[in-house]
Amino acid sequence: MFICSAPFATWNLLVFNTDMVAIIKRPAVALRAMQKEDLLAVLAIERDAYSAPWTEAIFRDCLRVRYLCMVAERDAKIVGYAVMSLAVGECHVLNLCVHPQLHHRGIGRLLLRRLLALARRRNADTAFLEVRASNRAAIALYRSEGFDEVGLRRGYYPAANNDPTQREDAVAMARAL
Ligand SMILES: CC(C)(COP(=O)(O)OP(=O)(O)OC[C@H]1O[C@@H](n2cnc3c(N)ncnc32)[C@H](O)[C@@H]1OP(=O)(O)O)[C@@H](O)C(=O)NCCC(=O)NCCS
Repeated sequence: MFICSAPFATWNLLVFNTDMVAIIKRPAVALRAMQKEDLLAVLAIERDAYSAPWTEAIFRDCLRVRYLCMVAERDAKIVGYAVMSLAVGECHVLNLCVHPQLHHRGIGRLLLRRLLALARRRNADTAFLEVRASNRAAIALYRSEGFDEVGLRRGYYPAANNDPTQREDAVAMARAL
C-alpha cells in the first residue's frame, strides 16, 4: 500500500493493490490561534485576496486587543485565517480569507464554524458581518451557515477596482448563535 498526497489537495489516495483504490477525505487542515509570527504569511494571502487589504498594523491591533484570530494550516503552511471581535453578547466577523489557490475546499467554512463556536462558548448570542455586495462566494457561504441579510450599507467599501470616485455597498448579515 502507498499513500499519495498532492500538495494542497484535500484528499489522500490510498492504493491497496491494483484492484482496490480508496480515496479518503481527511481533515488535512488544522486550525490554531494566530501569532505575531504568522503575519508575514497572513499578509501575503491578504494582499492577494483583497483590493483593499488590511495592513500589518490592523492585524497587530487585532492580536493586541485579543480578538479571536485563527489561522488554518496545512502541511505547516498557512492557508487561511479569520478574525472576529467579541463584545457583550455580540461577535463580529471582521475578516475571513483563504489562499486563492485553495478556494472551495471547505477551509473558509471550517474557519467560520470554529469562530462561531468559540464566540458561542464566550456567551455571544448574535453574530454580525459585512460583505461586499459583489462577493457571491462569501455571501453563499454565510447564507449556508445561517446568516440572513439584515441591511445594506451604501458605499461602505472602496471600489474593487480602486477607482477613488466609486464605492461598493456592503450587505450586512446576522445570525443567532
Ligand atoms: C469567501 C471565502 C473565505 C470562502 O472560503 P472557501 O474556503 O473558498 O469556501 P468553502 O470551500 O468553505 O465553501 C463554502 C461555501 O462557500 C460558497 N463558495 C465558495 N467558493 C465559491 C465559489 N467560487 N463560487 C460560489 N460559491 C462559493 C459555497 O456556498 C460553498 O459551499 P459548497 O461547498 O457547499 O458549494 C474565500 O472565497 C475567500 O477567501 N475569498 C476572498 C476573501 C473574501 O472575500 N473573504 C470574505 C470577506 S467578507
